[in-house]
Amino acid sequence: MEQTRKEDIDVSLDFAGIRLANPVFTASGTCGYADELTDFMDISQLGGFIAKSITLKPKKGHATPRIVETDAGMLNAIGLANIGLDKFIQEKLPLIEKMAVPVFVNVAGETIAEYVAVAERLANEKAIAGLELNVSCPNVEKGGISFGRDPEQVTEITSAVRKAAGQKILMVKLSPCVTDISAIARAAVDAGANALSLVNTFTAMVIDIETRRPVLANKTGGLSGPAIKPIAVYLVNKVYNEVAKARGIPILGMGGIRTASDAIEFIIAGASAVAIGTANFIEPGCALKIIEGIRKYCARHGIANIKELIGSLSEENA
Ligand SMILES: Cc1cc2nc3c(=O)[nH]c(=O)nc-3n(C[C@H](O)[C@H](O)[C@H](O)COP(=O)(O)O)c2cc1C
Repeated sequence: MEQTRKEDIDVSLDFAGIRLANPVFTASGTCGYADELTDFMDISQLGGFIAKSITLKPKKGHATPRIVETDAGMLNAIGLANIGLDKFIQEKLPLIEKMAVPVFVNVAGETIAEYVAVAERLANEKAIAGLELNVSCPNVEKGGISFGRDPEQVTEITSAVRKAAGQKILMVKLSPCVTDISAIARAAVDAGANALSLVNTFTAMVIDIETRRPVLANKTGGLSGPAIKPIAVYLVNKVYNEVAKARGIPILGMGGIRTASDAIEFIIAGASAVAIGTANFIEPGCALKIIEGIRKYCARHGIANIKELIGSLSEENA
């Protein structure tokens, strides 16, 4: 195997028209809006940053407990708690403007009109590289996953937000809790999505056997972390093969990534870039180690350009 000098390796890439210095993002909802992470890492070293879901009006989210650990992950039922669009624009955008990294804002809502209103307001904000359309939150009664389960609704919401988002990149975030994720991905791409991100969390439950009650006040929550990684890798590979590859649509892969090896699995499966979620709670700043680990892997395998790795899954043992 040929070795390449680490400093000669190019890990930068074009992601739906945006230049990324490297393929590693932080995932929505796990790193706040921008300022929460700065004590732990130099955000400018990331490939991209995704802000927590924003809705038109502030949301308190669900009652507590809304987080519970599991053997290899965690359940959350935050319920899209957020400061709302006005406060986000007033207080957080000035901070985002100073961040020397592409920032995506995750957009959520209960109705299509609400998604459109948020997208319209953000469309002219220069500090934002793009929008991540959350049609996959499992923890809200209205909106969220209820849009993301049905290809027709995905078409409707994606085309409405595509129009509202102007020149911004539109990435649609997919739920794994569907019968055929490729049908949903296809609907999003046909309706104008420039990129796809997957996966959001898996609907799950933890029961306290003494009280025989669900641990979470919301009863169910979204499972994330290492437990979901092999399923997420499979779904990324499926969407890459069945939809994204032929259409030239980049995938942001996520689900249980903790190490560079995990990230590389997603890239080989077909993700152009990856996002780190739950692992930030265990080791804030691990994203930077993952970037370094990807470089080392490329050096070891004689890969001069990260693009050589994307979707490079060998067919031999398939
Ligand atoms: C505490 C927590 C909050 C989250 N909040 C959001 C959110 O607001 N919007 C969203 O699209 N995804 C949200 N997610 C999902 C993550 O962005 C990611 O898709 C998922 O956790 C899988 O990646 P991971 O296993 O690396 O965490 C959240 C996840 C966690 C653990």
